[in-house]
Formats: sequence, structure tokens, C-alpha cells
Amino acid sequence: MDLAYSAALPQEEFIERRRRVWAQMQPNSALLVFSEIEKRRNNDCEFPFRQDSYFWYLTGFHEPNAVLLLINTEQAKKAIMFLRPRDPLLETWHGRRLGVERAPQQLALDDAYSIDDFNAVLSEECNNLSVLYHAAGLHPWADELLAGSAIDFAEVLDWRPFVNEMRLIKSLNEIRLIQQAAQISALAHLKAMQETRPNRLEYEIESEILHEFNRHGARFAAYNSIVASGENACILHYTENDQVLKDGDLVLIDAGCEFALYAGDITRTFPVNGKFTQAQREVYALVLSAQKRAIELLVPGASIKKANDEVIRIKVQGLIELGILQGDVDELIEQKAYRRFYMHGLGHWLGLDVHDVGEYGEERGRTLEIGMVLTVEPGLYIPKDADIPTEYQGIGVRIEDNLLITEYGNKILTAAVPKEIDEIEYLMQKNQEFSKM
Ligand code: GLY
Ligand code: MN
Ligand code: MN
Repeated sequence: MDLAYSAALPQEEFIERRRRVWAQMQPNSALLVFSEIEKRRNNDCEFPFRQDSYFWYLTGFHEPNAVLLLINTEQAKKAIMFLRPRDPLLETWHGRRLGVERAPQQLALDDAYSIDDFNAVLSEECNNLSVLYHAAGLHPWADELLAGSAIDFAEVLDWRPFVNEMRLIKSLNEIRLIQQAAQISALAHLKAMQETRPNRLEYEIESEILHEFNRHGARFAAYNSIVASGENACILHYTENDQVLKDGDLVLIDAGCEFALYAGDITRTFPVNGKFTQAQREVYALVLSAQKRAIELLVPGASIKKANDEVIRIKVQGLIELGILQGDVDELIEQKAYRRFYMHGLGHWLGLDVHDVGEYGEERGRTLEIGMVLTVEPGLYIPKDADIPTEYQGIGVRIEDNLLITEYGNKILTAAVPKEIDEIEYLMQKNQEFSKM
């Protein structure tokens, strides 16, 4: 696989997406999509550049300070790009630019202009148009640039509702890339299990994960990796990753790579020393049984809500059996008593963004369709509170896989990482034997 992002998808894919956008635009309208810009980290250093997902989706162009303009009139459908012009001095310091001259052919567009000419060209192109599609508030630099524009559209509409729907149903090409992201993320979790042992640091395991991403063609993580040992697992977005892994603790790892800008998103929880204690085993088995049941339920025609209702019932029943909750199952569900131990959703759409776009419907009740990709990630996080049996206090477990909804039900894209207790213990015991050889 070519590491140039644009080589990951055929140009026809971007052309087809723009065709579908044009088909949904009103007559005599224009549509603007803005790229991401460089983000300052400190002084004159920047964060690594990452393109805006919408802009990428419609252009396949990975530079900052660019704008796509789509014109839809009876006479013509035109795609125009504004971008940074070539500049030998700046390119020597800061890197190559595609430039105005090469853009139309390279990106299959009708025309290209310097970003410096944005307002002048916009006025000319949109003179008699009545509707502008613009995602206000998405990029401050976009709103500022438009504020300086001389034209006054009768109506400004947001293109996100229909582009989000397009992004929600993945094409075969996108599925191929998401599968690759899932597969590389799975390899990294396997590596993490192999590298984990008492007295290593959480961020050492993080670095093993990042290295594994890189080795397989994924330069970046799709989000900040969580390597949370012991009680840290009960902090949902723990990313300090600076603690020592302790013998006898569990470690929760939530990490996924970004491959050709598509995200993987996997969580596994396993013992630092390779062997679950009795209490860890009980909590883990409960989360695993809920997760497996949810996967059975996440099929075309069902909803995340339906699966989550079942997950909640399984967890409440299990927590009563463990003596962590007391009372009647239905009443505890009614009172939402489980929120103390399970305070996030069951899953989310996955794609160019780890929390991908697309409507969820009320209480995530939207019907699942073939081509959707989502996560399934139940967890239990037991606080260190006086009313909880001591042996369960501070245990945090989450198990997260990525699912593609198919005509047969679903396909687990991340099945390569073990999640059965026996499999995890066997794999980790093998490592310890090898590491002694
Ligand atoms: N890693 C973010 C999430 O699981 O939603
Ligand atoms: Mn995750
Ligand atoms: Mn997730």
C-alpha cells in the first residue's frame, strides 16, 4: 500500500462522492468545504497536520488552507479548488505543495485558484446564485474568510445533514481501508499483550502499540491511546499513561490506528502478570458475556438501543450476583442504578473520525443498515466505595470490537485480538516462557 494517502482510494471514488453531493443541491446553488489548517503546539512548532475529514472525503487532498467550491447551475456543475500556490522558498522550509497548476488534473477538478484569490473568484462564480451551502462554525478560519466576502446569498444552508448520511454508509473501498485499520490495530493489541509485564510503564506499552501501527503502514493513532492499569481503568479518558504496571492489576488498553485516514478503535483488558484473579475474572466474564450478546443483536434492522437494553439487563443481573448491586433487576434498571458502573454508550459509528458522523436517532434507536460500521464496547468500572465488596473495588474492564453490518448480520473486523479468558492467559503465559528462553 502506497503511504501517500491519496493513493489509497481511486480518484473515481472522490468524483462519485461529489456527483452525489451535486445531486442533493438545490438549483442555482454553491457549496463550500474548507480544509483543516495547521495547529500551533507551542512557539513556532505545529502539531502533525491532519486533514478535515469532510474535506478529505470530497477531495482526497491532504494540504492545509484549501477550499472546495461546488457550483450547481442549469448550465454547469463545476468543482473548483482554492489552495496554496507553489513557492520555492516556503517549500524549501516547510514542505512540498501541489500548487494551482497541477491541482485540476491531480484532483479531477474543473479549475483551481490561489487561496489568496478566494473572495474575488467566489464573487465572480456565485454572482447570480441564491443558495450557499456552508458548515458554519466548523472552522473559525472559514467563517472569517467568508465574512470578508462581498456576495449576499438569499439562503445559507448546512451541507452536513446529507454528507453525514453519505459518510455513514461505507463504500466497498472504504470498507477495505477500515478493515486494514482494524487489522493493524488488532496486531498492535496482540503486541501489547506480548510486551506487558509487571514493572514496565504504561507509556512503554503505548510506544510498542505505536511502533506496531507504524510498522504496518499506519503513521498515526486515530485518537490518544489509553493504557490504564489498576484503578486508572475507571477513568474513561485516562491518557497520562505514566504509571508503573503492577503485578496483580489489570490493564485496560484502548488504542486504534488511523490507516489512510480511517480509524480502528479496539479495547482489551487483561492481567499485567498474565493471570486473572478470581474477582477480575468474574467482572471480566460479565462484560464479555454482555459484549458477545450485543454482537449477536447488532444486525440489519436492529438498533444500538436494542442491544444496549440487553447489555444493561445482563450487567444488572450479574452485578446482583456479585453482590455489587442489591434489589430487583427491573427496578434497578428503572432507577438507572447501573450508571454508577456503566456510564457511557454501547457504541458509536466508526469511519474517518473515530466517533464518526451520522444521526443516531432517539436514544440510539436508529435501524442498522448494511454498510454501517460501528463499535461495540460495553464496560464496567467499579469505584472504590465503602458499599462495594473490597475484592471488586477499583476494577475497570472494557472490551471493544469494530463491526461491519452485512447482509448476513455482522462481521467482527477486530476478531484477531483474543478476548476469551483462556486465550489471553495462554498467550501471556507463552510470552513469559519465551522471554525466559
Ligand atoms: N477510543 C474512544 C472510544 O472508544 O470511543
Ligand atoms: Mn475505544
Ligand atoms: Mn469506541
